[in-house]
Amino acid sequence: MTSLRSVADRLISKPTQTSDAVSIYHALLNRPQDVAFPVIREFLNAQLTLAQQHTDAVALPDDPSNWTAWIEGNARQVASAYRDYLESRHDGHGREFFINKAHALYFLQHVAPTKLVDGAWLYGAVNHAGDWRYHPLIRTYLEELGDGDPAMNHVVLYRKLLADHDCAPREVLDQAYYVQGAIQLALGHAGHAYLPEVLGYNLGYEQLPLHLLITAFELNELGIDPYYFTLHVTIDNASTGHAYKAVQAVLDLLPTDDSREEFIARMRTGYLLNELGKGTQAVISSFDLEQEVVAMLERKCAFGQHMHSDYCRLDGMTVNEWLSEPGRCRAFLAALENKGWIKRHQDPADSRFWQLCNGPGAAMFGVFSGYEMQLLWDWIAGSWRAEHLLKKTSPFRAQFRRRAPCVERPSTASGCFSIEHLTPLLSPSMHSTPDGLDATRVFSRQLAEGSSIR
Ligand SMILES: [Fe+2]
Ligand SMILES: [Fe+2]
Repeated sequence: MTSLRSVADRLISKPTQTSDAVSIYHALLNRPQDVAFPVIREFLNAQLTLAQQHTDAVALPDDPSNWTAWIEGNARQVASAYRDYLESRHDGHGREFFINKAHALYFLQHVAPTKLVDGAWLYGAVNHAGDWRYHPLIRTYLEELGDGDPAMNHVVLYRKLLADHDCAPREVLDQAYYVQGAIQLALGHAGHAYLPEVLGYNLGYEQLPLHLLITAFELNELGIDPYYFTLHVTIDNASTGHAYKAVQAVLDLLPTDDSREEFIARMRTGYLLNELGKGTQAVISSFDLEQEVVAMLERKCAFGQHMHSDYCRLDGMTVNEWLSEPGRCRAFLAALENKGWIKRHQDPADSRFWQLCNGPGAAMFGVFSGYEMQLLWDWIAGSWRAEHLLKKTSPFRAQFRRRAPCVERPSTASGCFSIEHLTPLLSPSMHSTPDGLDATRVFSRQLAEGSSIR
């Protein structure tokens, strides 16, 4: 006979029975308590099998005692490649990543699923606060959480970045964009069963990549505060930062008995999990301005098709007719150009269409998000934008002030809290909320004081 309990379990876990990245991601972020361990295990094991196929990736060196030297060597290579990049920019070469601001916002939007769970893979470590060997992992996790200071919490910072530019994803993106985030959440919630994989993944993720440096440089150049990215340049460094702590944790937790070889093999596979999903370069090169403009307008059609007056005709059709069937937006843009409502490759302010969308009082004010407005602006401005920029700004000028070092906020809670009380609030879904930030401050303080986290 089927027990009521198992019926309830089946019902609860139904939405996450499929182990696709989008479902796992949203379930673990929104209601992790409802996701059964076997569901996470099935997902992670499938990802680990895929990771093992990445035989072309740079492998970890054989002997873990060489890993510190190896990450230092990697960091030197990245520094030298970045020097080359800066020299090329000094010599007058253009940006290598983002063709315009819309491209940069597209990037921020499409890496959002990963960035909004920053640090999640280390969540399981907080259950081991009484074991000093886990402390490098816990410290790294707490730093991702800004030790409870919202001005330093990576997820809060990324949310703010998306909000400042009104470019958060408004609909579900393609599966590939959730793979890294889903892996991170899964490792965080199943850390007890996947310690070697967590260590290996952490070792790969916490090394400073060249793309982070170039991204930060070009975001600043495009008038986007690069702080979220520059923060990682210092915090993930190889001499004392997260990359160093990643190796330290491995050396502290590596078994000395017969299980050592298997443990190392599993770490290697965990390290390869970094190869899955859509990497930074792939996200950047997947942008096509015109395609994005057209896709964005197609999504809007459903809302806009009855909203226009029939007074004006473009190429023989009213605006409502243009918007009444999917697939017409590219031709609609051409019609707007023919009619002279869009004048490409000049200041968008000269285009009637732009005037209708931009600024309070404009007939279509508020129809488009900040990101969508930037898409339209860059598409209309075209080559005018490039010339305009060349005349005005130096990419080397820092456009954003460094923030003041974070002032430790007094914790609202005093006394000693049990681990059972604090850890749920430190989870990837909770730590960026006011309660989560409070709990993180208490947890950090108790860990630093060595007061028993019971
Ligand atoms: Fe981070
Ligand atoms: Fe980090």
